[in-house]
This record gives sequence, structure tokens and C-alpha cells, in this order.
Amino acid sequence: MKTILVTGGTGYIGSHTVVELQEAGFNVVVVDNLSNSHVEVIDQIEAITGTRPEFEKVDLRDREATLEVFTRHPDIRAVIHFAALKAVGESVNIPLDYYKNNIDSLIHVLEGMKLSQVHHIVFSSSCTVYGEPDVLPVTEHAPIKKANSPYGNTKQICEEIMADFRIPNPDINVISLRYFNPIGAHESALIGELPIGIPNNLVPFITQTAIGIRDELKVFGDDYNTPDGSAIRDYINVVDLARAHVVAIERLIGKKNKSGYEIFNLGTGKGNSVFEVIKTFEKVTKSSLKYKVVGRREGDVEQVFADTAFANEELGWKAEKSLEETLLTAWKWEQYYRAENTPKSRTKK
Ligand code: NAD
Ligand code: WQD
Repeated sequence: MKTILVTGGTGYIGSHTVVELQEAGFNVVVVDNLSNSHVEVIDQIEAITGTRPEFEKVDLRDREATLEVFTRHPDIRAVIHFAALKAVGESVNIPLDYYKNNIDSLIHVLEGMKLSQVHHIVFSSSCTVYGEPDVLPVTEHAPIKKANSPYGNTKQICEEIMADFRIPNPDINVISLRYFNPIGAHESALIGELPIGIPNNLVPFITQTAIGIRDELKVFGDDYNTPDGSAIRDYINVVDLARAHVVAIERLIGKKNKSGYEIFNLGTGKGNSVFEVIKTFEKVTKSSLKYKVVGRREGDVEQVFADTAFANEELGWKAEKSLEETLLTAWKWEQYYRAENTPKSRTKK
């Protein structure tokens, strides 16, 4: 069985990807330092798939510990590198932590790959690299804009590091996946997004408001140049996103990638406004959400959504799930999680 190393595999997107990898027949080794996730996620993955992934609690900032993961698992065929700090606002306040965590981790993973002759890596990048795009929908050829946060900058730098690393190591193959806005949860409601503290992102804030943890949602701006005045994003179902990683891994291992360094946008190709997300949530949950419009949030772009033609045609992957069904999974996860309290207790049901 082919073994895939998944860094950040107990995190939000990582855990969904481990499920899809295992269901596609891959053997998975998860590495995570649990700085933004819980080890019980491994139980949840086992509950969903019937297979327990191997788990190593390792901080990828620790070079020796990272290299040891590779020597302990000589069967690793490819890496999916999710592990990173990801809060845009926080990165402005503690930039060095972000640079150190996100960049050192990638460097250590690449060193481990070189040491162990692992040739394939899938990297978690972001649509944040496009900033406020000049042309919509955004293709992979759109210019990279100056990052408006240290977090965004780490994604740009990491992409450059991998490109530079390939020059003297042309046998290394990279697929960089630029996610748009991942939302929702696994349909089992056993895994989902677990923001620590007050959520920054729209959908967790909506579900937490609906369940009564937050008083009301603040809509950041209704004076954008969009049909209803609120900002537009491309919300992609996390399981659809996870499936794209399996396709990318199969492409790398099957040596179907053409250039050795490929970049794909992962989105639905459709933009939805904040008001549309609210209305859709209200419709599918048959409830009304408390919200008020406030001023724009600093650093927000007006609208961004993906041109998915390259991912659809070249990668052979397409987002399938609708906004309706995706928001319902987010809601189901919120309800289940709050009812069960801790991730641990949920596995016992
Ligand atoms: P997440 O925080 O849920 O998962 C990241 C995981 O990495 C966490 O479990 C955390 O504990 C782990 N981690 C962080 N630093 C580590 C380190 N030094 N050593 C070991 N483990 C470490 O985040 P996510 O939403 O699943 O995001 C996964 C990746 O996708 C990240 O690289 C993120 O930047 C990228 N991304 C996320 C989004 C989004 O909206 N969620 C959008 C675009 C890109
Ligand atoms: C979506 C829309 C907000 C919260 C962020 C990162 C980006 C990428 C994805 C990692 C915006 C509005 C939000 C709220 C609101 N992550 N909103 N009230 O900002 O598009 O992208 O996550 O790479 O780098 O910046 O996502 O979910 O925060 O916001 O009105 O309480 O919802 O203004 O228009 P964003 P988001």
C-alpha cells in the first residue's frame, strides 16, 4: 500500500483529506504538533473509515524530529503539507512566529524528502496570493499581488522556495493547490472546523451565532461594488477540496504531471456574496440569523472567485457539492459538536 505523509493531518482540511486518502486505499502517516487541533480527531477518522492512521506528534519547526519522521517511515511515497499557522489577523501581530512556523516547517519537510528520496509534494496554498484580482474569475496565470499579511506572504515565499528547490533537485515534483474559501464538514459530522476562540471566518461565525454562542453576525460592508453590496467569495466544500488532494497525489505518483511544478486553483468557479450565504443558511436551516451590517474589514478584497478550467480539465477534478448542502454539513457539525462537547466523547457514540 502506498504511504502518504500528511502534515497538519489533524487540522480542518488535513483530517478530511486523511479520510479521503484512506478511503482511496492509501496508507497515511499523520504528523501534527496539535497547536491548532486535537489528537481525538484521529479517533474520529478511525470511526469514519474503520482505519486508524498512524499519528506522530511532531513540531515541524524541529528539524531533527522532522527528519526522523522520514527515517522512521522509509515507505513514504509522497507528502501533503498542510501544517501551517493560518490566521491572517494574528499574523500581523506575531509575524515572526508565522514566518518561522510556516517557512521552517516547509524547509524541514523538503530536507526530509531529499534525505529519504521522496519525490512528490502537494502544498496547501491560497487564493490570498492573488490579492484583489484585476480579472475575474481568477486563473492560475493571474499576477501574484503583494501580500497584505505576513500569513499571505508565507504562502508566496513557500511557493518560491519549492520552485527554487526544484532547480538543483529536478526529480522533485510539486503540486501547489490554491484554495479559495473552504467551508463545511464531513457528512458524518464526526470531523469539521474547530476554530479556537472567536472565529474570523464567515461560516463558523454564522453557525456559532445560530447556535447561540455569538450574539449576532457582523456583516463587514454592504457598500462594495457587487450586486447586493456585500463581498463575494468562492466557497468550496471541504470534502470536495479533500478529494482534489487524492487526485493530485495520484497524478504525482502516476507521473502524470507535466512540468514538475504545477499550480491549480481549487474553487467552485462561482462567487457568492455574504448576504447570499446568510440567506442560503437561513433557507436550509429554516431559521433566521441575527446579523447587522458594519463597516468593511481592513484588508478584505471586494470579490474573488476561481477560474476552475485548469483544475477541471488538467487535474480532472471538479467541485460537486452545492452551497446548500455544504452549509447544512457545517450546521450539522456545529450542532453535533456542541451537543457532544468534546471530540473525545463523540467517538464513543
Ligand atoms: P488548521 O489549523 O485546521 O490545520 C493546520 C494544522 O497544522 C493544525 O492541526 C496545526 O496543529 C498543525 N500545525 C501548525 N503548525 C505546525 C507545526 N509547526 N508542526 C506540526 N503541525 C503544525 O488549518 P486548515 O484550515 O486545515 O489549513 C490547512 C492548510 O491550508 C494551511 O496551510 C492553510 O494555510 C491552508 N489554507 C487554508 C484555508 C482555509 O480557509 N482554511 C485557505 C487557504 C489555504
Ligand atoms: C469571507 C467573507 C468577510 C466574517 C480568509 C483568508 C484567506 C483564506 C481564506 C487562508 C468576507 C465576510 C467574515 C464575519 C463577515 N485563508 N465576513 N463577517 O477573508 O475571504 O479569506 O480565509 O489562506 O487567506 O483571508 O474569508 O471567511 O474571513 O470572509 O462579513 O464575521 O465574509 O468580510 O467578505 P476571507 P472569511
